[in-house]
Formats: sequence, C-alpha cells, structure tokens
Amino acid sequence: MTAASRAAIHDPAGDRQDGGPVPVAGTHPADRAEGQPGDRLGRRLHDLRISVTDRCNFRCTYCMPREVFGRDYAFLPRAEILTFEEIARLARLFVSNGVSKLRVTGGEPLVRKDLPDLVRQLAAIDGVRDLALTTNGALLSAQAGALHEAGLRRVTVSLDSLDDAVFGAMNGVNFPVARVLQGIRAAQQVGLAPVKVNAVVKRGLNESSVLPLARYARDHGLILRLIEFMDVGQSNGWRLEDVVPAAQLVEMIDAEFPLEPEPPSYPGEVATRWRYRDGGGEIGVIASVTQPFCGACTRARLSAKGELFTCLFATSGMDLRALVRGGASDGEIEQAIAERWRRRGDRYSELRSAETAELAETSGLRRVEMFAIGG
Ligand code: GTP
Ligand code: 5AD
Ligand code: SF4
Ligand code: SF4
Repeated sequence: MTAASRAAIHDPAGDRQDGGPVPVAGTHPADRAEGQPGDRLGRRLHDLRISVTDRCNFRCTYCMPREVFGRDYAFLPRAEILTFEEIARLARLFVSNGVSKLRVTGGEPLVRKDLPDLVRQLAAIDGVRDLALTTNGALLSAQAGALHEAGLRRVTVSLDSLDDAVFGAMNGVNFPVARVLQGIRAAQQVGLAPVKVNAVVKRGLNESSVLPLARYARDHGLILRLIEFMDVGQSNGWRLEDVVPAAQLVEMIDAEFPLEPEPPSYPGEVATRWRYRDGGGEIGVIASVTQPFCGACTRARLSAKGELFTCLFATSGMDLRALVRGGASDGEIEQAIAERWRRRGDRYSELRSAETAELAETSGLRRVEMFAIGG
C-alpha cells in the first residue's frame, strides 16, 4: 500500500460515521485505494470487535448456560490468548485495511487484568474514530475512571431486567441489579457517553421487564436497545418460539411512550432507532432474526486467541495468531486480512431458515460460541 492510499483511508472526508450520505458500495475512498469493492457482496471492512477473553463472571442462559459452562469447562489457557501488544498490532493492521471503529468485548472484557492498558494502546492508533466497550457491568464501577482516562469513549452495558429474580435467573449467578446500575452510574459520572443498555429479550422470561427498563433508561439518559434472542453458538437451546419480534417490542413501548422512527446514526447500524415523541431520548431494537441486516454488515471479529471471523455465525476463523507469532511482517498480515475480507460472502442471518438451521445441525460443523468471538 502506498503512503498516498494509506492517507486516503484515513481521510476524514471519506468517513461516513457522521451519519452523512451512505456511500455506494465500492466508491468509498478506502475501496478505491485498495482497488477493491469490499467483500464479495460489496461490503467494506469498517468495524472490528475484539474479544479479549473467553471467560465471564456471568452464566447468561442465552450465551453460556451454566449446565454447559460449569466448573470443568476448559477455557483458553493464558498462553493461547493474544497479549495486549499482539492485539494492538493486529488492530493497527485492521485500521490500515479500513477499520475506524473498535469495540472491546469478551466474554466479559473487564475480567481481563489491566484492561485500561489495552485501551490506551488502541486509543493511540491513528485512524480510530470510535472506541467502545461492551460489558456486563459487574466490574464497571471500579474501572470506569481508569478506562475513560485511558481513552475509552463509550460503553454498552448488558442488563436484561430491573427485577432481581428475573435478572438473577438470566445471568445465571444471581448477580444483583443494583451492582450493574452502580456501574452504569459510574460510567456516566466519568463521562463515558452515551451509555447504552443492551437487553436480550426471551419469551416467557423477561418480556415484562421491557417497560420498566424503558422507563428507567428514559429517566436516566440511557439508550436502551432491545435485542432479539439469537441462535448463535451451539449451546443456548435457541428456538424460534422464544424470540419476541422487535416489532412487538416497539409496539409495547409505543403504547406507553409514543415513538417515531429515527434514521441510523451511521450506515450499517445494527440497531434500528426510535425516538420518543415527547423528547425523552431514543431506543434501539436489534432484529437480527426477524429483520436481518447482513446486507450492510461491515464487521470483522478477532477472537481472544487471534482468529479472524467474518461472521458472528461462522464455523471457523483465520488464524492470525500463527502469523503474528510466526514472525510475519506487518505487510504480510495486512495483506492476509485484506484477502480474507475480499473472499467474504457471509450473510447467515439472511439465509436463516428451518432448512439452514437443520443443515448446520447435520453438517457436523460447529458454530463458534459468541463469547469466544466477541459478540
Ligand atoms: P453501536 O456501536 O453502539 O451501534 O453497538 P453495536 O450494536 O454494534 O454493538 P453491541 O455490542 O451493543 O451489540 C448489540 C447486539 O447486536 C449484540 O447482541 C450483538 O451480538 C448483536 N450484533 C452486533 N453485530 C452483529 C452482527 O454483525 N450480526 C448479528 N447477527 N448480530 C450482531
Ligand atoms: N442473542 C442475542 N444477544 C445475545 N447476547 C449474548 N448472547 C446473545 C444471544 N444469544 C448479547 C449480550 C450483549 C451483547 C454483546 O450480545 O447480552 O449485550
Ligand atoms: Fe457473559 Fe455477556 Fe455471555 Fe452474559 S452475554 S455470559 S455477560 S459474555
Ligand atoms: Fe454480519 Fe453474519 Fe451478522 Fe449477517 S449474520 S449481520 S453477515 S455477522
């Protein structure tokens, strides 16, 4: 890559995170610089979700059910996990390939020791315009200040109910609601803004939590996002009957607090936005089951052990750790990432159907677990 093309990739005028006109696939400066129209479906590489650990202090029923992920479960040994320096180097090479948005995830990212040190390294990468963290909030009140000081801009906290009995059953470890709310408050106080709250909605479990969550979020300046329960991984016993369609969730809130549609804040935004007509803020719904959004999917995922996944529902990833630890040059790794992205044709959610689900079951290919690849 020439210095000029690298500069083009980092040219702010070429970036559309500001909600400006959606670039036609293949006409973004980064694409022209590479001479490539993005992946096989013309989607540019724009976001990188980085899983820093496969461990978590929760056992959410829809992610790491405790019956499957008990005491004997073999999480990755330390030596297999990328060091902060390895992550930062790879992140930089993703940025050279067009990424401008980084999200740190897990597992639970805050169980990894000294996470602010990684945040500092990521924040220092030239070309990173958005640096966010998705957390369950359990350890947030202790770390919010250090994370913000290290350069983190915003956080998204998962919280499925304000009712301790419901939340305790969903998080699998009886973790109290009050401690998560404490984390959210700490994040707001140090200036991590906006704070978003993610709630996965599962039929029969927490539908009755939706309105109280909406009310709380309105009253406290938070952006609530309601997420359809997804068939990710192999272990969460997903059934279509358990999904509450996003349209129903919107109706439920609209009946109490009237809503109107709000345009996406950036092209390819995962959440569909709605704003309260009375000016009380906004919500988002993430309808990956009933209204898949693969057509605009610009996300790559880096797993804790250094594999590149080009879809949340992938069955295998590309081993970047082998390149990093095998002495590959920056140019070689940058090229490997670019080539993998160009070959990408994933659109799992759009293809999802009874047949595809059955095919996945019978093909013998195991879908990777969500906590392993960064949500
Ligand atoms: P913003 O940057 O604030 O827009 O956040 P985000 O919605 O990209 O990230 P977040 O970690 O809050 O994810 C919200 C939900 O959307 C989670 O359940 C994710 O697993 C899901 N999600 C994120 N990206 C994808 C994706 O590419 N495909 C699917 N199917 N779900 C996704
Ligand atoms: N379906 C939908 N969302 C999920 N998450 C974890 N597992 C699932 C699932 N099966 C959510 C978490 C977190 C985000 C990164 O992904 O609650 O908010
Ligand atoms: Fe942990 Fe998040 Fe998975 Fe819950 S959803 S088990 S908090 S990684
Ligand atoms: Fe992207 Fe795969 Fe999700 Fe579709 S299913 S939006 S391709 S990660």
